[in-house]
Amino acid sequence: MINTTHEAVMVDEVLENLVSKQNGKYIDCTFGAGGHSLKILKKLNQDGTLIALEKDKLATLTLSTEFTDDKRFNLINDSFSNLNKLFKDGEIDGILIDLGISSTQLDDPERGFSFQSNGPLDMRIDTSQGQTAAEWLNSATKKEIEDVLWTLGEERASRKIASKICDSREKKPIESTKELSDLIISCVYKRSKKHPATNSFRAIRMFINQEIYELQCALEAASYILCCGGRLAVISFHSMEDRIVKRFFQGKDRIGSNIKFKYFKEKYLKPTKNEMSTNPRSRSAILRVAEKI
Ligand SMILES: C[S@@+](CC[C@H](N)C(=O)[O-])C[C@H]1O[C@@H](n2cnc3c(N)ncnc32)[C@H](O)[C@@H]1O
Repeated sequence: MINTTHEAVMVDEVLENLVSKQNGKYIDCTFGAGGHSLKILKKLNQDGTLIALEKDKLATLTLSTEFTDDKRFNLINDSFSNLNKLFKDGEIDGILIDLGISSTQLDDPERGFSFQSNGPLDMRIDTSQGQTAAEWLNSATKKEIEDVLWTLGEERASRKIASKICDSREKKPIESTKELSDLIISCVYKRSKKHPATNSFRAIRMFINQEIYELQCALEAASYILCCGGRLAVISFHSMEDRIVKRFFQGKDRIGSNIKFKYFKEKYLKPTKNEMSTNPRSRSAILRVAEKI
């Protein structure tokens, strides 16, 4: 296993806009390597509390003493889509959701998230349940694969890639990230510096982990468990996720709640030029913070 550390993005912006009460009760929905959590704990006083959620049990196997020795901190290995089962209505002052996966997960070939190194085609965030990307790709219909690549990846060659996957698996199941990546490369005309498999890998990961559905559940639940004036901060890394967050704050596409939010200061924030140059992964980040009214 490769041990790359994850550098938290837009930390100053999150602290400044999210944490308004030093004795408040906060949730970090996406603990990852704990970068945001640690800074939030530093900003809270002795009466403040932070509960962190993390779906990936492997990410939290060894916690540093900064967390284990801090009585104000509690970690729950669960999905943020279960927020409504874990907390009561109106009890939370602020919630952070930092979407996607961490560099640690991406850079570990065994997790199967990356086309940059070869590994088993897994892509599950929670490796204890659900089907792997390989299991899905070797059993889904051509139309199902095409739809996922098109709707979640906006991949123009979705039809061609889906056909090639189905032809290829007739001869031998697709089992590794390299096999999938090579197959995609042979279908996609390279137009930019972006790796031809970028969109498809992201789409398959989002499908395997039901990321859009989980985000919608979390936003909805957050609207109930936040107190009045409580803040919700979401960092997204691509336009589809950001559109969902933006429309949610506008009161659109709600599943049930009609609780209103208003933006706290700006509609959205981007990383500083300095952060983008020191942490290239932050370049596509967009942070929206809104207050429950
Ligand atoms: C971008 S990383 C967060 C990094 C973190 N903010 C930090 O400072 O290290 C996203 C994390 O969210 C986790 N995750 C993804 N979907 C989740 C979900 N539905 N519920 C809880 N955690 C989730 C991933 O496993 C990953 O560790």
